[in-house]
Amino acid sequence: MDVKKLLKKMNLEEKIGQMLQIAPHNFISKSDTKIHGFEYDLGLTNKQVFSAGSVLGIGNAKEQQELQRKYLNDSRLKIPLLFMADIVHGYETIFPIPLALSCSWNTDTAFHSARISAVEASTAGIQVTFSPMADLSREPRWGRVMEGYGEDPYLLSMFVRAMVKGYQQDDISAKGNIASCVKHFAGYGAPIAGLDYNTVDMSRLSFYQTYLGGYEAAIDEGSKMVMASFNTFDGIPATVNQFLMIDVLRNQLNFNGVTITDYDGLNQVIAHRVAHDQREAAIQGVEAKIDIEMASSCYMKNIEKLIETSIINENDINAAVGRILSFKNELGLFDNPYGHANIDDEKRLIKSKEHLAKAKEIAQECAVLLKNESNILPLSNNSKVAVVGPYATSKSTNGVWSWKGSINDNISLSEALINQGVDVVYINGENPLPTDIDMLREIDIVICALGEDIEKTGEAKSIVNLELPLFQVEWIKLAKILKKKVVTVLYNGRPLVLNNIDQSDAILEAWYLGSKSNEALTDLLIGKINPSGKLTMSFPRHEGQIPIYYNHLTTGRPFNKDVHNIYTSFYLDCERTPKYPFGYGLSYSKFEYENMIMSDKEIYLDESITASITITNKSNVAGYEIVQLYIQDEVSKIARPEKELKGFKKILIQPYETKTVKFNICIKDLSYINSLGETKYEYGRFIIMIGSNSNNVQKKYIFFKENNNEDKKYT
Ligand code: BGC
Repeated sequence: MDVKKLLKKMNLEEKIGQMLQIAPHNFISKSDTKIHGFEYDLGLTNKQVFSAGSVLGIGNAKEQQELQRKYLNDSRLKIPLLFMADIVHGYETIFPIPLALSCSWNTDTAFHSARISAVEASTAGIQVTFSPMADLSREPRWGRVMEGYGEDPYLLSMFVRAMVKGYQQDDISAKGNIASCVKHFAGYGAPIAGLDYNTVDMSRLSFYQTYLGGYEAAIDEGSKMVMASFNTFDGIPATVNQFLMIDVLRNQLNFNGVTITDYDGLNQVIAHRVAHDQREAAIQGVEAKIDIEMASSCYMKNIEKLIETSIINENDINAAVGRILSFKNELGLFDNPYGHANIDDEKRLIKSKEHLAKAKEIAQECAVLLKNESNILPLSNNSKVAVVGPYATSKSTNGVWSWKGSINDNISLSEALINQGVDVVYINGENPLPTDIDMLREIDIVICALGEDIEKTGEAKSIVNLELPLFQVEWIKLAKILKKKVVTVLYNGRPLVLNNIDQSDAILEAWYLGSKSNEALTDLLIGKINPSGKLTMSFPRHEGQIPIYYNHLTTGRPFNKDVHNIYTSFYLDCERTPKYPFGYGLSYSKFEYENMIMSDKEIYLDESITASITITNKSNVAGYEIVQLYIQDEVSKIARPEKELKGFKKILIQPYETKTVKFNICIKDLSYINSLGETKYEYGRFIIMIGSNSNNVQKKYIFFKENNNEDKKYT
């Protein structure tokens, strides 16, 4: 399709239509596809509806085909509709929530989950997913941390890349692929006080060093679309923020694809009190090169007049529509408007045996063993077990943003344990504790399946209290009064404050692991699979520590436990460290790290050196260990974090085997980004750290020099 020629044939109304995205029920009233909770009446005429260029969500292949057919019948130029939806961690086969996925520290899990999501969603007619969410977050109060990949920019970027690759592969028009729209540009993961949609107020240094990398990685990997975020940035809503949308996105990152507002985002510029009305919001949107307006009608109702009165230049509209049409063309929609929607494929592929098997395999990698006193886990063969608490009988393990996933085919933890032959002699998924506790007396281990109500996580689900409700903790107390061992399995979508479940002998962080959650967890509990996940967000000891993250700067008065000085950076009423640090997670194996060696003490500009360490599995259980490389720039012109993740490897170590893990270090790992977004490096001493988590590392020093006879200090 020659997009330029097509554009010439289009009248203004048709062009403006391309810039509007609305839900399917606007076209077909019987459609009950609803991704989003809140619907606004956009007051559109039938003609305006049928000029819209894209659709938010669609139920299945049949609905997509019907809608596309109806739309094209009425359309003068036969420009196909484009179908987009949030396929965040699975279509019908549901994978672990993104935060859990990142705890696998295995980007293959992201790639394969995105692949299967793309295969399933494309058969149902979806052509673009609003994923990955590349918003870095250090805010467990913010319900959307479950949609992200943790607190670390490096790890986040790796996962984001794998997701984009999994959705798109190398060709968005090919069967089984969908295009990715990365979101929410930019800084949405840093709302003040963890309150969703709240103000974001960050320095340019934080923006460039910490928050931008995730979106940049997605774009670099080829993400075709970018969604603007709801928040303000430097006081201007991101949707119309020209620094973000033009200076950074279009100019610095060279993004030339399609941009879209978030749901009703352009309208919200008025609520932010940065525009008086929809007309002003439309002007600002066009000026920020926002191509598609989702679920509001500022463009549709104003652009025509704004062009007539020369306030907006039609060339800007042509440029936006040109990008949208080129995208449709790249998706192959002009040749095949239905994309890969196919009723037979839907039946054959959605929730296929292979997809569900992969979902289980991936889920097994994502749970994190937080505690295992006296090796109470894995459960021994003859243990008599009780399974209690709200998740004992619940099948609700999909997590939010799984709108096509049904929990009906999932099984509960108690069912999964019974299926694996565990001697479950007591089950109680009710809230009130039993009055008759005789049944509990013959039990060896009480498995407390506790957690957050799924509806308390995700968008608009901010909370201030991160502790489990007391009625849940009562189960642990009761079990302890009866002198039972307690294994707590936690279902949640954010780091929690876990002090009130300290009495548990073991804690398995289960997140929401999707369709095969409880089967996967059972394999871990009985030791069929050895836990290998590690945390990608720090777990605070108290909400007052938030934001708490491992890669913080050193203060001018750093706390030193060995020196008595009260004028240092610490809390009077709480330890300053997290309860469970970034990178932490246990295994049934026992890994010992020794003998860290640097291939050289000096590193020169164009060279790389190697850091290696040996790890021995001092147990009779084979296991995966996630080995982490951190680096500190000891002194530089701007304060640098105490440590930053620069590499990781997940390796299988057989019983009593010793393996050597090597990391290459080069200038890229020693550089930093300044407040203008420029990459800089400085010569000097660096600390190289390797370990099992951010708080448990071995150290070596290296000197970074221009060449082996120079000893310059700075570039
Ligand atoms: C969310 C986006 C989502 C959009 C469409 C918004 O409320 O913030 O992440 O893509 O809805 O469902």
